[in-house]
Amino acid sequence: MKIEDYIRDIPDFPKPGVIFKDITPLLNNHQAMVETTDQLLKLVGDSKIDKVVGMESRGFFFATLLAARLQAGFVPVRKPKKLPYQTIAQEYDLEYGKDILEIHADAIQKGEKVLIHDDVLATGGTAHAVCKLIEKLGGEIVQVNFLMELSFLHGRKKLEPHQVKSLLQY
Ligand code: PRP
Ligand code: MG
Repeated sequence: MKIEDYIRDIPDFPKPGVIFKDITPLLNNHQAMVETTDQLLKLVGDSKIDKVVGMESRGFFFATLLAARLQAGFVPVRKPKKLPYQTIAQEYDLEYGKDILEIHADAIQKGEKVLIHDDVLATGGTAHAVCKLIEKLGGEIVQVNFLMELSFLHGRKKLEPHQVKSLLQY
């Protein structure tokens, strides 16, 4: 099974000139979803993982599935004012302007081994901000993995020196 067959291109979404990679067909198909989870787990190998961190919103899907399979906890990173308990925040750059991501202050203990997962690596701004949040809490980032990497944007450069892996490169 080729998981790329379950990712469809949507031209001009969310704005003209952008080709959106839609993963809902992949989520819609049980076999494709399981195969994707299996392949992401292979990227992690035998590394011990205590927590899997997924970022709102498209990172949540597979980060949660990975956490269950790795016998790890799942930690959500969210946009501002969504998390109810005490949080720490990290600002990051968007194409135009800035945004903020938050994590619960007690979500990761010092020294815990962390896998970060998101659906897409584009400029790397989102994942870089998540790395900073985890480092502020004293977590040890084992790997940052993605379903898809838009290689021409060189996002992995921004995530150095962390280990970056992706299933599909465009
Ligand atoms: C998209 C995508 C990644 C991020 C990648 O999320 O799901 O999280 O952009 O871009 P970057 O590498 O340039 O930071 P988006 O912010 O659109 O939100 P969503 O996941 O809620 O759709
Ligand atoms: Mg996202």
